Amino acid sequence: MKSILEFSRAKREQHPIVMIAAYDALMARLVAESEADAILVGDSVAMVVHGHPSTVHATLDMMCTHVAAVRRGAPDFMVVADLPFLTARRGRLAATEAAGALMQAGATAVKIEGVAGHEDVIAHLVESGIPVMGHLGLTPQSVHQLGGYRFQGREPAEAERVRAESRRLQELGAFAFVLECVPSALAASISAERAIPSIGIGAGGGTDGQVLVLSDLLGLDARFQPRFARRYTEGHAVVLEAINHFARDVRTATFPAQAEVLA
Ligand code: KIV
Repeated sequence: MKSILEFSRAKREQHPIVMIAAYDALMARLVAESEADAILVGDSVAMVVHGHPSTVHATLDMMCTHVAAVRRGAPDFMVVADLPFLTARRGRLAATEAAGALMQAGATAVKIEGVAGHEDVIAHLVESGIPVMGHLGLTPQSVHQLGGYRFQGREPAEAERVRAESRRLQELGAFAFVLECVPSALAASISAERAIPSIGIGAGGGTDGQVLVLSDLLGLDARFQPRFARRYTEGHAVVLEAINHFARDVRTATFPAQAEVLA
């Protein structure tokens, strides 16, 4: 996909949207060659690439660096960038400057966690020509307020809050929203109610699309294997074996071979 118009079309035509979180040019090129629809430069980059304990540590500079790299790897692809921790809470001016920086780095749209308390920011960005994707349910930037990475929306009041927020997002002009770690029945009924597409993660099969972090679907991290993230290959074992193979070849003098020696 190249634009948010294709997100609306996908919803209308019931074509499930596939979004992949990726953070660098090489992986972006791979995703752009695949059958996926969009790349998310998620603030999960702070954890996956930079080794921080949460997305709270993502900065605007960090996000812009990765958005620019992804854009270089995928020049014609839809790229959504996370607005980092607290940016939407600093008011319209700060949020607009940050969103502008992400767009100038190469994003097609920005993603903002939550709605309450920064509705004006979402509306202002949309009015300013910046496509906004929402993010509801488990909002990782609030991990400390939530008391951990906890499933959301099990209690009826919580479920109604998520539903109301999704309605509000649509009214404010968001073009899509991520629904993270909410009950699948809730995700399905919210998705059926909304005109804009929902992209699920840990929210069952009733959403209008799915997003996974590339390193999760590749199974690269042996220590982090959430149940909702299917591993499509055992990347950790595959990469480890390749590195060990190289090490063995060096130590047994079978690398480099004659064909690999530059004259
Ligand atoms: O930061 C991220 O990668 C995300 C997805 C998990 C939805 O927000």
